[in-house]
Amino acid sequence: MSGYQGPMRVLSGIQTSGEMHLGNYIGAIRKFVALQHEYDCHYFLADLHAITVWQEPEQLRRQTRHIAASFLAAGIDPKIATIFPQSKVRAHAELAWIFNCVARLGWLDRMTQFKDKAGKNAERASVGLYTYPVLQAADILVYKATHVPVGEDQKQHLELSRDIAGKFNHDFKQPDFFPLPEPLIKGQFGDAGARIMSLKDGSKKMSKSDPSENACIFLRDDADTIARKIKKAKSDADVLPSEPAGLEGRAEAANLVGIYAALSGKTTADILSEYGGQGFGVFKPALADLVVEKIAPIGDELRRLEADPAHLDGLLTAGAEKAAVIADETVKEVKEIVGFLV
Ligand code: TYM
Repeated sequence: MSGYQGPMRVLSGIQTSGEMHLGNYIGAIRKFVALQHEYDCHYFLADLHAITVWQEPEQLRRQTRHIAASFLAAGIDPKIATIFPQSKVRAHAELAWIFNCVARLGWLDRMTQFKDKAGKNAERASVGLYTYPVLQAADILVYKATHVPVGEDQKQHLELSRDIAGKFNHDFKQPDFFPLPEPLIKGQFGDAGARIMSLKDGSKKMSKSDPSENACIFLRDDADTIARKIKKAKSDADVLPSEPAGLEGRAEAANLVGIYAALSGKTTADILSEYGGQGFGVFKPALADLVVEKIAPIGDELRRLEADPAHLDGLLTAGAEKAAVIADETVKEVKEIVGFLV
């Protein structure tokens, strides 16, 4: 247990490895927007994590700006929240090394995301992909963040961050030094949106690395593209049930209703009492209208912001300078605790 007494602080990051999609928006970005008015928030572009798999250098730079633009377009205000690229704040990598010496191999062996990403050829995966969750713990704890808004797929990594914080506090007899960070997984509306699935396969999460363009709604998609992708989304031949229990075993139907719930703020029960007994010929156009209403304006703003990379770079440099003040202080304290000459 940590007896941490410091201020509440929110932190989260998104890998700069592809285009932002509806899963990132619902699972993460819109929570970032809501939290910025209540807490001291730090949101970063995880470029050090992105290079755990190969990234073309120019594309990596573009993707980093793309995510920054997505944050702003969705409503994150850089005057309130601190936005920065991870690689611009050295303290992340410095603390990650120290945490590599705190985390145990057995803990990392249990990480399911490594197994999924490395696939059958784990021998050829980068060492960085394996120690990825240790860097994630450093990202969080270098700001002594207490709350981390993420989608459900990050739950195991957050548990590891808590284990590392707890072991550091215990080994160095500093029970109050690091907080044990809490994940914020549920959306504002119950469970809706903790995990958005592919539009083509309800058993796979919506992911930027999905080879099928139509599996994912991107924040960049215009209204016509969004409507077309929803029309083509996999569903089934049955009508919608009138009760949530009727969605069991119908992964695609449950996902489409889940997206509707997450974006409308209605409960699944309310949606089914409205659409129960209707087929997808009725439900899909209603869903398309809702997604277009919520996402298309973000896409328009995103394109406008991306047209001025110098402006984005300026904001990110200023954000990194601000973040480094807190992060450098933590690393200084950690070095002293560990026994380095300071
Ligand atoms: P990443 O880049 O894969 O995803 C960014 C955020 O989007 C959420 N997300 C989803 N939520 C619901 N449904 C989906 N289909 C979906 N796909 C993605 C993720 O849960 C995440 O919140 N390891 C992290 C990045 C990271 C980080 C951190 C996060 C690095 N350091 C420190 C928090 C704190 C990742 O790969 O996210």
